[in-house]
Amino acid sequence: DLLSPKDLPLKGKRIVITAGPTHEPIDPVRYIANRSSGKQGYAIAEAAAEAGAQVTLVSGPTILADPKGVETIRVESANAMLAAVECALPADIAIMAAAVADWRVAHDSNQKIKKDGSGLPPALNLVENPDILKTVGHLQDKRPKLVVGFAAETNDLIANARGKLERKGADMIVANDVSPENNVMGGDNNTVRLVTHGGVEDWPKMGKDEVARQLVQKIAELS
Ligand code: CTP
Ligand code: CA
Repeated sequence: DLLSPKDLPLKGKRIVITAGPTHEPIDPVRYIANRSSGKQGYAIAEAAAEAGAQVTLVSGPTILADPKGVETIRVESANAMLAAVECALPADIAIMAAAVADWRVAHDSNQKIKKDGSGLPPALNLVENPDILKTVGHLQDKRPKLVVGFAAETNDLIANARGKLERKGADMIVANDVSPENNVMGGDNNTVRLVTHGGVEDWPKMGKDEVARQLVQKIAELS
């Protein structure tokens, strides 16, 4: 092996990563989704594998190829994502980068919903999805030593990220401003701010691959 241990800072570590959106079914042909591409989470998975980690990536629906050297598990809904994450534990590190749909339809229909001729739309009754990061952050026995979340915000970025750090039992929140003018959702670049219990670190705008490599270095230092 030509690589020194310094090049494999996550050697021997097990990491579970979530990425992408989730799809929440309405009926057999329709679903609720969001604009996440999965690029940032996939880039982190690939960078972690390159750093020597044993990586399980639990991915919502994306058009991306499985990252090299990563066990990739594909799911649709938030409930399925939570179940797959629980199956992937125990792990040393959890990085929850998925844009999990906050709500699902309470009772999805097994038949296509039809217009009934009244001109009135059907009511979609929504219920809140389980919070995967919060569940993992509060585990008693199987909590990974390092739990990292993201915070996608359009306003009050740091205050909201700090709230999520506390509420979800995380060690670090990667905060990003997803206002449309920043073109983060779906785009190739990201401007992140790392929020920990110790403070805030601002990173310049860079490619999502570079964010991933630097995050992996940071995570190796903390784990
Ligand atoms: N998250 C999760 N499960 C959910 C919702 C969010 O695991 N059901 C995780 C995301 O993967 C991310 C973090 O929680 O790491 C923050 O997600 P975000 O959508 O910013 O926060 P929410 O708690 O959903 O709050 P809101 O969308 O109302 O700002
Ligand atoms: Ca949310």
